[in-house]
Amino acid sequence: MPSSKGKILVIGGTGAQGVPVVKSFASGSKYAVRVLTRDASSSSASELAVIPGVEIFEGDSYDEATLRKAFVGIDYAFVNTNGFAIGEKAEIYWGIRMYELAREFGLKHFIYAGLEYASKLGNFDPKYRCGHLDGKAKVTDYLSAQPTTPMAWSVLTSCLYMEGLSEVLAPHPDPNNPGTLIFAAPLGTAKCPLIYLKDYGDYARWMLDTPARSNGLVLHVATEDISWKDLTAAFTEVTGIKSVYKDITLDEYFKLGVFEDPEAKVGHSVTRNDPTLFTIRENYSGFWNTWKDELTKRDYKLLDEILPTRVKSVKEWMKKTEYKGKSAPVLKDYRDGARTRGVRQ
Ligand SMILES: NC(=O)c1ccc[n+]([C@@H]2O[C@H](COP(=O)([O-])OP(=O)(O)OC[C@H]3O[C@@H](n4cnc5c(N)ncnc54)[C@H](OP(=O)(O)O)[C@@H]3O)[C@@H](O)[C@H]2O)c1
Repeated sequence: MPSSKGKILVIGGTGAQGVPVVKSFASGSKYAVRVLTRDASSSSASELAVIPGVEIFEGDSYDEATLRKAFVGIDYAFVNTNGFAIGEKAEIYWGIRMYELAREFGLKHFIYAGLEYASKLGNFDPKYRCGHLDGKAKVTDYLSAQPTTPMAWSVLTSCLYMEGLSEVLAPHPDPNNPGTLIFAAPLGTAKCPLIYLKDYGDYARWMLDTPARSNGLVLHVATEDISWKDLTAAFTEVTGIKSVYKDITLDEYFKLGVFEDPEAKVGHSVTRNDPTLFTIRENYSGFWNTWKDELTKRDYKLLDEILPTRVKSVKEWMKKTEYKGKSAPVLKDYRDGARTRGVRQ
């Protein structure tokens, strides 16, 4: 009976992270899902709209009046705010505000898509400061101070998307030796975590299904912590394509062309006339320094227990997805043109 199903509101449901979450929530017909999006006609909204039990709800996630409409009739929420679109300050505001609205509307469970508190893990050394990590982590600290009744809360803390290996982390051909692919990253010998997004969606579903364990839990997920040297070796073993890891400096990284303009501000959908916004160079320097110095960690024993079917290694993921190092679209923001929309203040 559709009317007896719990209904979950998903914020950010059309994104790279949100799509597998929505699919996992909708699978098995236990829950109805409402996806809030600015554009019901986008390719990802259209892909989700045909799934039984999924409702597309048009509106802006960062607007109080829209949220008040979207929360009506909702039992649970999964919230992935978009720090790249709105910047750290607004991300903190909206994460907390969405929690408050969830309480006001009497929801049973609030699941927040978190990231690592890079600054705090790095003892507030400014070399680790990263707006899109710190912003979500400050919301996580706020949530961690909230009671677990009458509404449960959980945080699903992620890391770099494995799928990013086809976009922002994709290899490029060696200009001196075109048969060889170069995986370049400013990581030294560090092991860096990557998460397969299908599994990410299944962890979110586990949180919803298992409140007795997930209430009050900050779960740090990844598929594997891997050095780029090992990643390169796995790639060559699986594909037969020659590849090398190139350890690069941050300056070299910003010249790779991953970002059109490293001096543009992070916050492509908000006014740039805000001195708290980071430049891409500032933001991603903190980001890579955090991974290079291995400030974060995950409990893989716990992850194996929660999701025994999870993909357990980058090599397994490469085989499963027939990864060949080719570029493919991953982030909706990039499909929508955000990569070239950065504007200097
Ligand atoms: N890239 C990574 O490896 C990674 C890893 C972990 C966490 N994250 C975090 O995930 C968040 C981004 O989500 P994603 O990775 O799913 O990105 P994405 O694929 O680019 O999708 C962007 C999402 O943000 C939504 N959105 C709402 N208002 C927006 C606005 N004003 N401008 C742009 N988008 C807006 C979009 O919804 P509509 O367009 O449908 O309205 C869409 O669902 C960021 O906070 C980032 O820090 C990223």
